[in-house]
This record gives sequence, structure tokens and C-alpha cells, in this order.
Amino acid sequence: MSAVPVYLETFGCQMNELDSELVRGQLLRLGYAFVDHPEQAQVVLFNTCSVREHAESKAYSRIGLVGKRKAAGEQVLLGVLGCMAERDGLDMLRRYPQVDVLCGPGELDRLPALLDAARRSEAATQAERVALAGNRTRRTATLHAVQDDLETLDLSRAFDPDAAGRARHSAQVRITRGCNKFCTYCVVPYTRGAEVHRPPDHIVEECRRLADAGVIEVTLLGQTVNHYRYQHGLALTVGGREAPQVGPGLSAFRQPVAEGVTSFARLLQRIHDEVPAIERLRFVTSYPRDFGPDVLQVMRDCPRICRYLHAPAQSGSDRILGLMNRGYTRAEYEAFVEQVFTFLPDATLAGDIIVGFPGETDQDFEATCSLVRSLPFKNNFIFKYSPRPGTVAIDRFPDDVPDEVKRLRNNQLLAIQSHTSERVHATWVGRTVPVLIEEQFESSEAPSARGVELRWERRADAPRRKALRGRTPGDLIVAMDLPAGTQAENWVGRIVPAQVESASALLLQGRMTQA
Ligand code: 5AD
Ligand code: SF4
Repeated sequence: MSAVPVYLETFGCQMNELDSELVRGQLLRLGYAFVDHPEQAQVVLFNTCSVREHAESKAYSRIGLVGKRKAAGEQVLLGVLGCMAERDGLDMLRRYPQVDVLCGPGELDRLPALLDAARRSEAATQAERVALAGNRTRRTATLHAVQDDLETLDLSRAFDPDAAGRARHSAQVRITRGCNKFCTYCVVPYTRGAEVHRPPDHIVEECRRLADAGVIEVTLLGQTVNHYRYQHGLALTVGGREAPQVGPGLSAFRQPVAEGVTSFARLLQRIHDEVPAIERLRFVTSYPRDFGPDVLQVMRDCPRICRYLHAPAQSGSDRILGLMNRGYTRAEYEAFVEQVFTFLPDATLAGDIIVGFPGETDQDFEATCSLVRSLPFKNNFIFKYSPRPGTVAIDRFPDDVPDEVKRLRNNQLLAIQSHTSERVHATWVGRTVPVLIEEQFESSEAPSARGVELRWERRADAPRRKALRGRTPGDLIVAMDLPAGTQAENWVGRIVPAQVESASALLLQGRMTQA
């Protein structure tokens, strides 16, 4: 039987990218073949994101296109995976009858069975084609975490990073799923459910196997990655092995780490010490509270842990932070940043900001501007507030900042961030930094920031030379000429020293000092 061609498109965050990589590995092992265009596929899968309306609209328009193909008589099977599947639930099937399979982010291990049922028979029942966490309450999450079949998906990942279509030298490893924070604007606690922590042995083992497959950079993933905490010796095991575990209440972070607990700091230390082949260990996203000095100490003591923090402030106004239920004040955020730079003077800091949250006045916005001016953010992803069904904010606070004002604030803040980035980047000029080379490019291509993405566009007036680009441990982008007489392929995936010669808001320009 020939392989079934499948097209998989991913929307949204790094967590979704990892989910897609695992889905891909799972389907490859079952004999599916991945294609680059949806028109070539018999199975089209969209791994969706619900964090902002924009991401949802994009996915809906793709779903519409597949609907047209089906209406024209083509035999295509359409699966919607991820947060939109979970959020819309069966309503999506009613509104978009072209959708054959629905699979929430917590059920992806069941995807092959769903596809199988839908492919075998048009008459497959809804129960055979839909897997959602749905009405599972947060209390039953404890039991579910232990029986967690999703853990097997993480555990069984394909250890051939080439086959997964990603750069061979970098990989992501999930340590925590879900979120307990309930920021009022955010759908994640509803779509991804309660915080569940993976057993540290599983995580270390996964890192080791990735390293054996040639990976030298691992990014640990969690929505609030520093909430990682695993209590050993509990009765809840599967086949004698430790099982995933729901997180403790937030008050746990105000007490010292007990014996028999693997805290986030201890987990970092373990991976660093037990898998020395990982030359760069990083983690996202940090929640700026509950970030103890123990983590900073480990970062200071372990040379292969990157001194890079992505710790979203979201706003600089205490009033808005309160409405967002972020759980800290501006002064507390500033104190957190000060502590980071006291421990790690060469750290880099990045974040996220939402503009136009309900009720945000000019004064509130100015408070955010002053935060972005005064703290050394290397970059901030800036988002316009998007009311999300099911969240507290959409119910309680009318979306009263006109879109025009949101857009204006977004642009103003981008300009302020650009100055801050320039200032932060300038401090690196003259220093020699280790750069992990990611790819080659033409020096005639110049970067430009569009929304949250950095794009490289050709400039007709610039000289065309082959160049290399990569990142420092602090996630700063460095561009440099390809050393004469060498091939780019020989450098990609290697860490080389580079002298930083100049800097702009978007990147550092360097020279390789050892060719
Ligand atoms: N509207 C706009 N931005 C949002 N984010 C999360 N929810 C929303 C929303 N409803 C942003 C936050 C978060 C990032 C992943 O997305 O800044 O940190
Ligand atoms: Fe959403 Fe807040 Fe959880 Fe981040 S910490 S995933 S913004 S609820």
C-alpha cells in the first residue's frame, strides 16, 4: 500500500510546534508521508492556536479552502488539532461540516486512531473521530495526569531530528503542560488544562537521547516553566515508574523546597550535569513571580545554561496588572529584573506586552512605555488585546479601547522597544561571543520586524555575499561573513566565537575570530 500523503500546518506558539513535531513523528512511523502543499495531501491537518483572534481567523480561512475542495468532490480528510478544537468543541463540527476529525492538545496521542477510523469509514461515529478533554474538571485532572497517555507521546518522540524536519542541532523538550495562572485575558488554562509536570527522569532521558542524536541546544518548554515542581515518593505510579503530576497550589512557591522534591532549579542542574553534550540549555516562558534565587544561582553556576529569560511583564500599569490578574505589581517586576541582573550581569531579558487591555487609559499606556524605556529588554513581543470567548476578561470588562487606538499604541511601543533594543545591543559591541550558527543567508538580505516575526528581505542596492547567522546564548542574533574558502554547511550547527563589531535594533554584526 502506498503512503498516505499528509499536510500539517502549525499556528501559534512553540508548544504547538513541539506538538506538531511529535504528531509528525507518530504519523511517519505509521507510514504516512508528509507533503509541502495541502493540494497534494489526502489528509490535511491544522494544529491551531486560540490565543488571539487573528490566529483563529487564519485557521478558519484555511478550513474554508479545504471545504471548497471537498465541495468540488475531492476526497480529503480534514483534521483540526490543538486549542481551537478544544475551545470550539463540537460546535466546530456543526459550523464546519467539512471537518472530519477534532483533537484537543491534551489528546494528541489518540490522533492516529481518529484518523484511522475516519479514513476507514465515512460512517465513523463522532466518538470515533473526536477527542477532547472537554468537560474534564480540574479536579479530575489529578487522576488523568497519572493515567496520562499523552506522556507516551512525549516519550516516544522520533529521535531522528532530521526526520522531524527541524534543525538537527536544536530541540524542544516539554517539562510542564497546561497552566494554573488564569490571567483574565488568556484561553490557555481552558484549552490546555491544569498544570501537569513530567517526571524528571523522563525529561533527563529525553534530553540524553536528543543529545545522542546530535542535538546541542535544548529549550525546555512550559507556560510557566519556573513553576516546575515534582514531588517524589507519591503512591501514584504507572507500572512502577513515576507518572506525570499536577502542580501544587501557587502558595507552594512561597515556601522553601522540601526534601524529595525536584524544583525547577534542581531539574536544570540535573540536565546540565547529567547531559554534558547539551551545550546550550534554555527555557521559556518564565512567570516573573515565583522565580527564586535558587534558579538564578544554578544559572550562575552552570556554564551551559543560557543566561536568557523570557519573562513577560504584559503591562507597566499596576491597575492593568491587577485587572489582568497577573499577581505582581510593576515594582515587584522591576525588583525581579534587578535581582536577575545582580546575579547575572550579562543576562538578556525578553518579554511580552499587551496593549489596549480593557480600560487602558493614556496614563496606563504611558506606564507601560516607561517600563519598556527603563528596563533592558532585548526585545518584547507586543500584542493588541484580543477578547477571547470563555475568559474572565471578555465577561467582565468591555473591550472599550478602539482598534485604532490599539494600533497606535502598538506602533508607539514598537518604536520605544526599538530604541531599547538598540541600547541593549550596543553594550555588546567589542565583546567576543559564542554564536551557534543556524543558517547561511545572502548579505544583501536585511532583517525587518513585522509583527512578532523577524523577516529577511533582499535589498537590491546591497552587495551580495554569502553570510552566516546564528544566536548567542542570550538569544541575540549575530550576522557575519562566511570565512573565505569555506562552505556554509560546515558551520551550521557549530558554536564559533565572534567579535561583535556593530549593532542595530535587530541584530549584532560580527566577525568570526577563529576560522
Ligand atoms: N490578547 C492579546 N494577547 C494575548 N496573549 C495572551 N492572550 C492574549 C489576548 N487575549 C499574549 C500574552 C502572552 C502571549 C503568549 O500572548 O502576551 O504572554
Ligand atoms: Fe496564559 Fe497567564 Fe498562563 Fe501565560 S501565565 S499561559 S498568559 S494564563
